[in-house]
Amino acid sequence: MKLLVLTAIVSLATATAFSSRQTRRRPTVDLAESHAQRPIFDLPGPAMPPSTNNPDSHTQSPAGTVVLSDVMGRDRAINIFAGSVRDVESVSRRLDDEQQNSTVLAPLNSAMDKMPRKAWEDPQEYDTLGSEAYEGSEGRDRAQRNIRRFVEAHVVPVHPWKEGERVKPVGGDSEIWWEEKDGTKIIQPGDIKVDSIGSSVHNGQVWLLKSVRDYSS
Ligand SMILES: *[C@@H]1O[C@H](CO)[C@@H](O)[C@H](O)[C@H]1NC(C)=O
Repeated sequence: MKLLVLTAIVSLATATAFSSRQTRRRPTVDLAESHAQRPIFDLPGPAMPPSTNNPDSHTQSPAGTVVLSDVMGRDRAINIFAGSVRDVESVSRRLDDEQQNSTVLAPLNSAMDKMPRKAWEDPQEYDTLGSEAYEGSEGRDRAQRNIRRFVEAHVVPVHPWKEGERVKPVGGDSEIWWEEKDGTKIIQPGDIKVDSIGSSVHNGQVWLLKSVRDYSS
């Protein structure tokens, strides 16, 4: 009987954690507007699903599994990038998946601010389409495509990622790797310095970058 009750609690906790993870994600919205209106920071989620505080659930259950999507919004130093990730469903789903490991290369807010254009803008599109390149539904599609390319260029589909190991990011055909110089990890090509290692969770790790990757090539 006791076992039966415990099982019920665990499965209830699992269901709760699952649904809260689902609802926490924002729907994809109008990019051009959402970027203008996005708050400076996102409220961090709870450290863990509340069910893990339940002293009865000693067993290893999915409810206690923290994944990348749970922690992306927690570090304010990367909240601009975290906001972009939420606009890209393919990557959001990946970071939510316990079975798929990733190393997320998250540029610091300072790096995002230094970009000569927004991640959803493409100077070539301004050249060919003019200042209204991102107006209307076609413009929105263009912005969505660009933000997706940007975000996918910053997610490596492996963890652990060994020094010198060449991998293609989730989006893009060219391989990248990293090397260590004087105690600093540097992503190549591009000499991109890793500022620090952020959260380590069940399905991967977040690395904080001092600059954005050049994803245009
Ligand atoms: C995924 O990451 C975990 C660490 O959180 C590691 O133990 C596991 O071996 C990784 N799986 C693969 C396939 O690399």
